[in-house]
Amino acid sequence: MNKTGFSKRKFSTISLRTALPSALVVSISGAGLLYGVGLLEPLQAAIFGALLLVVTFTVVYVISARLHNERLDHLYDVVKNISRKKFEHYDDLNGKKDELDLIVKRSIKASDTVSQELARLNKIENYRKEFIGDISHELKTPIFAIQGFIETLLNGAIHDKNVNELFLKKAMRNVNRLIYLTNDLMEISRLETGELKASIQDMYLRDVVLDVVESLQYKAQKEDIEIRVKDFDKNLQVKADRNQVKQVLVNLIENGMKYNKPGGYVEIGITQYKKSYEKILLYVKDSGIGINKKDLKRVTERFFRVDKSRSRDKGGTGLGLAIVKHIVEAHGEKLLIESTPEIGSTFSITLTRTTPVLV
Ligand SMILES: Nc1ncnc2c1ncn2[C@@H]1O[C@H](COP(=O)(O)OP(=O)(O)O)[C@@H](O)[C@H]1O
Ligand SMILES: [Mg+2]
Repeated sequence: MNKTGFSKRKFSTISLRTALPSALVVSISGAGLLYGVGLLEPLQAAIFGALLLVVTFTVVYVISARLHNERLDHLYDVVKNISRKKFEHYDDLNGKKDELDLIVKRSIKASDTVSQELARLNKIENYRKEFIGDISHELKTPIFAIQGFIETLLNGAIHDKNVNELFLKKAMRNVNRLIYLTNDLMEISRLETGELKASIQDMYLRDVVLDVVESLQYKAQKEDIEIRVKDFDKNLQVKADRNQVKQVLVNLIENGMKYNKPGGYVEIGITQYKKSYEKILLYVKDSGIGINKKDLKRVTERFFRVDKSRSRDKGGTGLGLAIVKHIVEAHGEKLLIESTPEIGSTFSITLTRTTPVLV
């Protein structure tokens, strides 16, 4: 730590204020006492008093300065640095344990707290800026497309029945994209701000899986994908938020269908996790296009897609897996991804069984 501050000054005001009254008291009472008992003449008493004043002042001043200056310097530096938004690492104080030490320690702690808080706020601010940038970029594409179709229609294409219908259909597809996007954006921002909290309860896993599969069956048939549900124990209960588990399953199964080939399958099942009784793995496995190693790390990032146009064609927003990851982490669980290009992918989440009731 650099040494600037009080010790660089010629005088330490605090030491001066301590030394002067003590020196006055000692010299006046010392000389007065000796004069009073008749040991000194008035002139001798005056000289003795003056000497005592100088000696006491020097001794007290030096002791006080040595005792306080270094720590006052330390305090001065810490506080000055905080006011300049400079946060350094300060050595811990050792030795003395008095009020001044306590204040120095507290000021170092305050500096650390302010520095951590500023770093946290900067991170949020950067995240917010990046998020807004991403959102505007994602919104622009469908909005400009809709604008283009409407302009072409207004410029005369409206009178040609075939063109007119085609363009309106295309405009509608982009409107739908905007709807998916705003829904997913609302969802992720509610998850990220903590507004949407998981309400964790005991739930039967099989019911939820069957519900979700039923709701996606029509889409699966249209895409020529078979959805297979492995045997689920109908009594198996887990601790989770029912709606959020549903949402995770919808996102994972939809991805399994979207990034697949006609005639392919998506399989949903459970396996044991790391030989622990408490945890199970709920997996969604597909026979799809797979993800290469380089992209695998990034698929849960907001707006990341391996193939943008394929995702858009299928109504993707690039937010599905980011939402899944948030939900899983808010449950204190894990998301595991394995994938082999051209063979398929398996997305699994850990879930916690409810404690079995002993009878
Ligand atoms: N089951 C899967 N098989 C292959 N690729 C996948 C699968 N699931 C996700 N992906 C890849 O990860 C990207 C991000 O997924 P997601 O966040 O759900 O966004 P999207 O809206 O594009 O589906 C997808 O665009 C796709 O490239
Ligand atoms: Mg998706």
